[in-house]
Amino acid sequence: MTQPYPIIDHEYDVVVVGAGGAGLRAGFGCAEKGLKTALISKVFPTRSHTVAAQGGISAALGNMGEDDWRFHFYDTIKGSDWLGDQDAIEYMCREAIPAVIELEHYGVPFSRTAEGKIYQRAFGGMTTHYGKGTAQRTCAAADRTGHAMLHTLYQQALKHRAEFFIEYFALDLIMSDAGECLGVMAWNLDDGTIHRFRAHQTILATGGYGRAYFSCTSAHTCTGDGGGMVLRAGLPLQDMEFVQFHPTGIYGAGCLITEGVRGEGGYLTNSEGERFMDRYAPSAKDLASRDVVSRSMTIEIREGRGVGAEKDHIHLNLMHLDADIIHSRLPGIAESSRIFAGVDVTKEPIPVLPTVHYNMGGIPTNVMTEVVAPADGDPHRVVPGLMAVGEAACVSVHGANRLGSNSLLDLVVFGRAAANRCVEIVRPGMPHKTMKGAGDSAVARLDRFRSAKGATPTAKLRLKMQKSMQNHAAVFRTGETLAGGCKLVGSCFAEMVDIGVSDRSMIFNTDLAETLELDNLMAQAVATINAAANRKESRGAHAREDFPDRDDKNWLKHSVIWVDEKGGATISYRPVTLTTLTSDVEPVPPKARVY
Ligand code: FUM
Repeated sequence: MTQPYPIIDHEYDVVVVGAGGAGLRAGFGCAEKGLKTALISKVFPTRSHTVAAQGGISAALGNMGEDDWRFHFYDTIKGSDWLGDQDAIEYMCREAIPAVIELEHYGVPFSRTAEGKIYQRAFGGMTTHYGKGTAQRTCAAADRTGHAMLHTLYQQALKHRAEFFIEYFALDLIMSDAGECLGVMAWNLDDGTIHRFRAHQTILATGGYGRAYFSCTSAHTCTGDGGGMVLRAGLPLQDMEFVQFHPTGIYGAGCLITEGVRGEGGYLTNSEGERFMDRYAPSAKDLASRDVVSRSMTIEIREGRGVGAEKDHIHLNLMHLDADIIHSRLPGIAESSRIFAGVDVTKEPIPVLPTVHYNMGGIPTNVMTEVVAPADGDPHRVVPGLMAVGEAACVSVHGANRLGSNSLLDLVVFGRAAANRCVEIVRPGMPHKTMKGAGDSAVARLDRFRSAKGATPTAKLRLKMQKSMQNHAAVFRTGETLAGGCKLVGSCFAEMVDIGVSDRSMIFNTDLAETLELDNLMAQAVATINAAANRKESRGAHAREDFPDRDDKNWLKHSVIWVDEKGGATISYRPVTLTTLTSDVEPVPPKARVY
């Protein structure tokens, strides 16, 4: 093939795609140990979506009362509705303690107790003594913990001389015929050049795909670019039906109001002024897990007890909290509520609604963050050269429902695990494999979209897909709504051939970049809705009204889904790991999940 674009070549030991919390932690961990490491990011690193994380990072430090990492392990398994892999959960909860101490030493400006210890607040589903008490386990830097962490991790990456390629858009993985990942292709948005990065390990840290939905707390950049590349490489994604709705997105705007508000004593009320969570979760109340709270709010609204002129949302109250607590612990949400809801939180409740927040599903990996793709009867087959971390990945520590503050934890624990694995398997400067035509198909795809002359604007098709997902893969689902959703999202996928890109430039062509993003979102929307239609039980965030119970006999398994170039989905299943890594903690067998 004659190459229409000149290609600039690079060789690195490790290339990380994405420079949010997980990518930065993985990247500087590799650089620190002498591996030549590049981080490619479509946004400036400190604008990555980790910056928006508010409430905190979980770790059983026990600074505010008794705690134990085994309690955290139990809570995370229960939170996951038993779909989380218990070996990975053990690893994460045990490593949480040194990981947070490490962050403190790097300089994260955590809020402090009177004795100078890291301040910890209560969060949903976090308990002591296996459900008996309330744990204060979530380490916080006011309500801007992600911001504090992201800046600190970026500083560490600069210190260790990781190399940055900023405002580079990752196009596709370079895969050998033998199924090995040899690197990644990228487009420099700033000057329009195309780059071929060869790497012994490519780590995908591209975040979630929240923007597949109409209303989400995710940044506009959360388009699941890693998941899109994985599907195009013929590899599967896992547990895509599990999409978390955060109970408290600002009504109308979607911006996050941290669960930390409820952790500090805030509570939800309906149109009758009733604290309705007492009825749904008599023990944990407003601090039940997110899936439980979001379902309860949805039921209140459906049964006519929503607030506002259209009775279509719920109130979050914190007027009773001491103004000092609001100003010192929750300054960001006071500001967001004023700007986005016109509310003074010291005087009025915040109007809130369950809003798409997090993808439990993603690129399947083992505990060492190596990507796995079941094949030839082996459910744990590793894809050589490819790793994934953070929200892009499905390790799986969150299973069917993630507990709040386990996400920032996942980023640093598995970012570090990825770096450790790279140090084990890559020798600095080892020679790269070459491959004829490496990256040609990625460039051809870019060229195809750049010259797309169809009648459908990208923004119009994106809106159609987002509304289809919002209406058909919501907090509650039925076979009928999901079947309708599969059809609608399938027809959106088919309409991609009619996309029209108005701008032909290669330099900062946002129409083209958004089209590439839409292509990534679209395949993951197909994966999500098909996996949801196929899972005939209720578990965690996947609530089927036609199959209201969890069914461990038939469905205690991860779904694994491939999406082909025509939008066709193929689903299979792989076992959940119900055993632990060590004998330091007992596995938790499935049981009823009540809060
Ligand atoms: O509510 C929050 O602060 C969000 C935290 C999380 O998703 O982990």
